[in-house]
Amino acid sequence: MKQRTLVVISAGLSQPSSTRLLADQLSAAAGAAAARLGVTLDVQVVELRDLAHEITDHMLTGFAPASLKQAQDAVAAADGLITVTPVFTAGYSGLYKSFFDVLDKDTLADKPVLLAATAGTARHSLVLEHALRPLFAYLRAAVVPTAVFAASDDWGADSVEGPLRGRIDRAAAELAREIERREPVTVADPFALTAGFEDLMKNL
Ligand SMILES: Cc1cc2nc3c(=O)[nH]c(=O)nc-3n(C[C@H](O)[C@H](O)[C@H](O)COP(=O)(O)O)c2cc1C
Repeated sequence: MKQRTLVVISAGLSQPSSTRLLADQLSAAAGAAAARLGVTLDVQVVELRDLAHEITDHMLTGFAPASLKQAQDAVAAADGLITVTPVFTAGYSGLYKSFFDVLDKDTLADKPVLLAATAGTARHSLVLEHALRPLFAYLRAAVVPTAVFAASDDWGADSVEGPLRGRIDRAAAELAREIERREPVTVADPFALTAGFEDLMKNL
């Protein structure tokens, strides 16, 4: 089996959070789809709620506190990403946008990304198309064709039902295929020597 990493960003604020519930369903479906392709996914969930203060600190100071830096590094090293935001005031939530505002703008270039959102009403489902897709197009992410939207009515007991189940599985399969067909991500060590010792001495 190949090994790959998946980072799941959940921007829900409630506890329990329907955004987190959708994120968990998507990551479980992605894990199952990847396994069918001979890939084991190592999944890490990042709850933006827990990083809200650190994200603001980064915006104010230009530096990421340790826990935020850890999450940013995990995103950079991930072979694939699932992001889920609640719809707030007909758009993505401010916390969700702020996380990507303080992420290096090249981090997501060519990274497979599955987009998803939760909301109170299905009338705002196009937030995925008019807000999330343009953001990730700017970041040059490789967004999979199927995006997943869950309104309150889509939830039964503790799971999703009906047509939403099919969209989750389809989006997860698309993400797994993109992760499987790529080489694993390698992150360059910023402190690694790029020239030999003799070459360095020549420049003295
Ligand atoms: C400040 C605020 C604004 C919201 N605005 C919208 C909205 O414009 N459209 C909508 O369909 N739902 C809206 N909602 C409902 C949330 O999107 C929905 O309850 C979401 O699933 C909450 O996610 P959570 O349970 O993970 O916190 C809003 C909720 C809050 C708290």
